This record gives sequence, structure tokens and C-alpha cells, in this order.
Amino acid sequence: MTPSFDLTLRGGRVCNADGCIDADVGITDGRIAAIAPGLPAGREDVDATGRWLLPGGIDSHCHIEQLSGMGLMCADDFYSGTVSAAFGGTTTILSFAAQHRHDSIPQVLEDYGRRAREKAVIDYGFHLILTRPDDEALQVHLPQAIREGITSLKVYMTYDLLRLDDHALLDVLATAGREGAMVMIHAENHDMIRWIARRLLDRGHVAPKFHGVAHDPLAEAEATNRAIQLSRLLDVPALIVHVAGAETVEVLRKARRLGAQVHAESCPQYLFLEASDADLPGVEGAKFCCSPPPRDKASQEAVWAGLLDGTLGIYSSDHAPYRFDETGKLPKGEATTFKEMANGVPGIELRMPLLFSEGVMKGRMGIERFVALTSTNHAHMYGLAPRKGAIAVGADADIAIWNPAREVQVTHAMLHDNVGYTPYEGMRLTGWPEDVFSRGRSVVRGGELRAQRGSGQFIPRGRPMPPEVPRATPGGRGAFSALIGLERG
Ligand code: URP
Ligand code: ZN
Ligand code: ZN
Repeated sequence: MTPSFDLTLRGGRVCNADGCIDADVGITDGRIAAIAPGLPAGREDVDATGRWLLPGGIDSHCHIEQLSGMGLMCADDFYSGTVSAAFGGTTTILSFAAQHRHDSIPQVLEDYGRRAREKAVIDYGFHLILTRPDDEALQVHLPQAIREGITSLKVYMTYDLLRLDDHALLDVLATAGREGAMVMIHAENHDMIRWIARRLLDRGHVAPKFHGVAHDPLAEAEATNRAIQLSRLLDVPALIVHVAGAETVEVLRKARRLGAQVHAESCPQYLFLEASDADLPGVEGAKFCCSPPPRDKASQEAVWAGLLDGTLGIYSSDHAPYRFDETGKLPKGEATTFKEMANGVPGIELRMPLLFSEGVMKGRMGIERFVALTSTNHAHMYGLAPRKGAIAVGADADIAIWNPAREVQVTHAMLHDNVGYTPYEGMRLTGWPEDVFSRGRSVVRGGELRAQRGSGQFIPRGRPMPPEVPRATPGGRGAFSALIGLERG
């Protein structure tokens, strides 16, 4: 008898954001063809008894083979970055194609596209980092990028080389509203940070732990509030990335109650690291520095609460891989000040295992919420649904089979990135993704990589479909929009 499927995943518990069932999954031509108990044999059968089948993770915020805002090259290229992602249960990444102020946008997109095409082992897409929103960018290049499936962009309110002022942010939001793109905003008050940093350095406070002092929680809360009001002014959705502080979570919650179409993301470093982790001898604390920085226990709790009540709908890694040497964290060796080290921490591989262990296995969140936060919500937010983000008939067969009983002690040696350390060294986790499939291809099995370099595909994305935040006042700002000639896509 000819097998019905190319591959059958048999006897597992299939979990989506809206519930779980015990079923087999039949896969043909890279897509899910059937989900039911007792499916016929596939050309290949994988026994998933006692294990959970979850949609492959979507990591919609990671920096791969990218020049940072400080002009430093990431330690992971599209090979090591995607291999590491896959070993952690992620099957799609959205990383950044970064325009620096002198760059032409089409050239940037071509460069990143070529590098990823040659190396990625899982599927990928790009957000455009926009640093020069001139007429050509807004009228020609951005619409063109969106037509090519790059339907989101990131803008910065801080970093000398990247930041936009409020006027430019309004231009970007207006364009995104017209073209139907999602705007991700790095919200920190540049002048507050710069002013505090100057005073710290003048007083000889140069150690990594002072990075957290310079990036005060108020700088994050203020800029987040400002970004929200800009988005409300034009009634164009925006997404605040890497939320760290308790007050920022509260700012977001209140704005959403008022009907702001504002969405938000947080990351493992804000659940599992604290400011005090950077308080180490010498420059060792640089391993724990990112922007915004991890804060205190109260902020960790606020981020957990935000992820649970929907204030924060996206959980990404913000994998920003820099080695603990002169190429990244320590451009001046031991003499590097907190202002000179690369910002960012790695986390692409541990993003999902950390939340699975500390969230699901410790009873803080159901598996459905885990799936929503790590995969499904990303698919809707960034125009990847219905192709990605769910185990559903017709969707790409992007599936990770998790063993909920597997105990793992984290060491950097077991990870696949090129960073050389992990801030989560020594943590004991329960639950691990053992088998990972991308479009039905086995990418990871038995601890081995099975996918070829360059076998990942660029996924042109459709229009972002963020969940509508209930509006406090019907009618919105229609009259104002008409008066100032705002166009809607
Ligand atoms: O510190 C971080 N997060 N570095 C990466 C760049 C960014 O702003 O996301
Ligand atoms: Zn950022
Ligand atoms: Zn980032």
C-alpha cells in the first residue's frame, strides 16, 4: 500500500494557542495534511508518544549578521543563528535588515537577503531598520519593500547612529498606516540616558553595572508613553519592543484600556535576569548588559503579569550576539566603559526552553498561552498567518516535538550560537524540544542537525493583523485624519 503521507508524527499531544488534543499529524509536501487519531502510516513515522507537538517557534526579534547601532558586527551569521534557533524549537526568525544613515534601502535588503539565502537552515523574513525616512524612503522604497513581503520596520528613539526624532516618527507612522505595515519602536529617552551617562563617566563610574543606571526605567517609561501618544495621534498601530520595566508595563496597560492600538513584546532577559547580575568584578558584568537593561524583581513580576494578561502579547529573544572580547563586549579590553561595550544578550536557543520550564512546567502559564506568546501571536502580528504559527491543516509543517520530562542543565557548551557564553549558565530546566521540523523537513533530531545550509526560505509576509484593542470611544480620530490628509491602506 502507498503511504498516505510523507511523514506521520504519531501518538503525541498536539497543542495550539486555542487548545490541545491527542492526535497524529500527517504531513505531505511540507504542509500539514491531516490531524486525527489513528492516521495511516507515512513514508516515515516518528513516535511522539508522551511528547508534545507544538507549532515551531517564531522569533520575531533577533539580530543576525547585523551591524549594530554602535557599528559592531554580530557574532552570529545566518548559519549559526538559525542553527541555534532550530535547536531551541524555533522554525522561523524575523531578523533585521539594518539601514545605516548613508545606506540605500534596496541595497540593504539585497545584501541581507543574499546572506540569509546562502546560510539559513530555517525560514526567515526581515524587518527593515529605518534610519533615514526621507521622501524617497517613504514614498518609494518602503512601499516597494512592503510589496516584496517585508511588512514591518523598526525605528529607534535612542542611539546616535539610529535614532529618529518625534517628527520623523510621525512620518514613519503615517506611511505605515498608508501602506499597512507594522512599526516596531525601541522606546528609550535618548537625552535622559546620555545626560545620566555623562555624569556617571565624569565621576569614574565606568563599570558595566552603570549601564543599568544610565538606562533608567523612567527613560523607558517616558519614551514608551511618547511613542504611544504618537501612535494614538494618527491611530496607527505600533509595537513597543523589549519591554523591561514595571512602570512601562503599566503605561502600556493604561493606554490599551483607553483604546490605544499599541502592542508590546518582552524577552527572556526581563524574566530571568536582574540589574544586579551585572554587578560583577571588572568587566564581567558586560555579559548581562542590553538595552533596556534587566531591572528588579518587581519588574520581572510585572513582565510575567503582562505576558499573562495580554498587555505583552509577543515573547521574542532580542538575540543580540556579541562575544566577550574586542569584537563585541570589550572593544577596549578591560578598559572598556559601559558606554563603549556592545549592547545585547544572546537568547535565540534558550528563549522557548526558559519559558517552557519556568512558565509552563512551574504552573505559571498554560501551554496554550506559551504557544500564543512564542509562535501564534507573532504570525498574526507580522503577517505570517495562516501559513505559520499553528498546527493546522494547510499550514506549513513547522513543528517542534517537546519532551516535557527532559531535564537539562544549561551550559554554553551545549548551545549552537557563536557567542561563547550564556547569561543563563547553570540554570536547570525541565522540558526540551527534541525533534524539530520545518516544512516537514527534519531539522533537528537526536541532538543532531539534519538540515542543509541554505535550505531555509525567505517568507514574503502579508499584511500584519494585530488583534484590535477594544476602542474606548467609537469613531476614533476620523475627522482629524481627514483634515490633515492621512491616507489609510
Ligand atoms: O541591547 C539590545 N537589545 N541590543 C540590540 C539592539 C536593540 O535595540 O534591539
Ligand atoms: Zn531595540
Ligand atoms: Zn533588538
